[in-house]
Order: sequence, then C-alpha cells, then structure tokens
Amino acid sequence: MNGLKYQKSIPARFSAAAPTYDHYAEAQEWAACRTMEAAEIVSVPARILEIGCGTGLLTGKLADAYPAASIEAVDIAPGMIEHARKSLQDKQNLSWTIGDICKVILPGPFELAISSSSFQWVSPLGKAFTRIRESLASGGYLVFSMMLKETLHELQESRMRTAPQKPVLHKLPTRGDVLGWLDCAGYELVTHDVVDFRVEYDSAWGFLKSINKQGVTAGSVSFSQSLLNRVQLKRLAIDYDDYYSAGGGKVYATYEVLTAVAEKRH
Ligand SMILES: C[S@@+](CC[C@H](N)C(=O)[O-])C[C@H]1O[C@@H](n2cnc3c(N)ncnc32)[C@H](O)[C@@H]1O
Repeated sequence: MNGLKYQKSIPARFSAAAPTYDHYAEAQEWAACRTMEAAEIVSVPARILEIGCGTGLLTGKLADAYPAASIEAVDIAPGMIEHARKSLQDKQNLSWTIGDICKVILPGPFELAISSSSFQWVSPLGKAFTRIRESLASGGYLVFSMMLKETLHELQESRMRTAPQKPVLHKLPTRGDVLGWLDCAGYELVTHDVVDFRVEYDSAWGFLKSINKQGVTAGSVSFSQSLLNRVQLKRLAIDYDDYYSAGGGKVYATYEVLTAVAEKRH
C-alpha cells in the first residue's frame, strides 16, 4: 500500500496474527453478524464468494447458514487461510484460494459475494469491486461490512498529540468514497448504514496489544514515516488512558462500520 521499508506487508502481518486474531476480534465478530443479517435479503444462494476470509470468522457462519451452497473463500494471507482451513475442516462445502482479490481468477458466477472487515485493506478497492462484479451472476449481490475513516480515531488523535512529528499518512476511505466506487463499478445500492461500534479495553496498553494481535498495528490506521519508539509509545499510552477513559480503569476505541448491500446493475 505504501512501500515503507520497515512495515510488514499485509499478507505477512495477517499471517503472523492468525493464531491470536480470533481472541481479540470483538469488533470483527460484531461486523460478521451484521453482514450475515444483511445477507438475508438474498434468497438462498447456490454459489458464494467470500473476500478476505481471514481465520474464517464469517466463513463458518456462511457454511452453517447455507449448507447446500458451495463457498469459495479468498484471502491474500497464506497463514490466515491455513488457520481457517484447519478450524473449519469439518465443513464440506468450502474451497480456499490464496491471492489478492484484485488479481486471482474467480470461477463464478456467484449469486452472492460477501466480505466482512476486509475491504478497508484492499487497494484499489474500486478495481476489486469491478472484478467481483464480473464474477457475479445476473442479479447477483455484493454484501459487506468494512471499517471507515473514523475507525480508531482516538488512536490517531492521541498520536497527533504525543508524536506530531510522525503523523498518520494513510487514511481509510469515507462512506462517500465507497459508495462512489460501487456506483462506478456498476452496482445499484440496495441498502446501507454506518454504525459507530465502541469496544472497551482494560487499559491503553491492552488496547495497543489487542490491535497488534489482530494484525492492525502499523496498518492503515497508523501509517507514518516511522514507527513510534518506546518513549513515544509510553507517552501515547498515558495520553490515551487520560483522554479515552470508559470508567473503572478501562478505555474505549471506536470502529466506524459501513454495512452495505449492492446489486449487480444490468
Ligand atoms: C481484518 S481481517 C478480516 C477477516 C475476516 N473476514 C473476519 O471477519 O474476521 C482482513 C483480511 O483481509 C485479507 N486481505 C487484505 N487484503 C486483501 C486482498 N487484496 N485480497 C484478499 N484478501 C485480503 C487479510 O489477509 C485479512 O485476512
């Protein structure tokens, strides 16, 4: 996404986070449930494409909800796919592809393409929308949840106060960006909403550890010219505890989550 040398690539970062991801993925679990609810608009699909399956959080729900469907799960991180494959080995209707959704060959046609908590990592997202559309059957749907620009804004603000010389460079897309890309890629928006989902953590250090274990650290929410050093991290943790207290020693962080249903335009 931005070629800075010290940063691990997206596949490397998520592969490394695979063993710890599920334990810390509270916001993603919530988003996966919302995505499943949104998908109820689609009458039982026979072929499903899942984009950015990760450890299989959404994949397992899909396999249970649509036991007769064949589900193609794609992810760019080999470690994530390996983890998902192992934990869902009892499900018969899953096949797995390692690769970038902007590049892999998608068999199709799918009645449903679905994704949860992944599109914020995909770049360029407009191109991915076009490729997914090409793999959809006539009248097929794209249903997804993804994190938007205000996600973890508390962390970005705290970082600006404590290390202003290392500002965040990369920002997640806005609702307007995403809806515009959908339109350009040839979808009709059926429904969408944006919800601020708040998660509480035991402390700022607990929060920082949690996002690290989810593979988020140094990602789009914290892209900068250089990583924070230990002293700066310590300052940030004190600032965060101070500004974003949820009471009882806890802190909070907000995830701005877009859930959308879009239909392939004729
Ligand atoms: C935060 S995880 C979400 C995983 C899962 N959907 C969930 O709800 O927990 C994001 C996933 O998107 C994958 N990903 C990022 N960019 C991708 C791309 N261009 N193509 C396919 N997968 C991608 C990552 O490897 C990672 O496993």
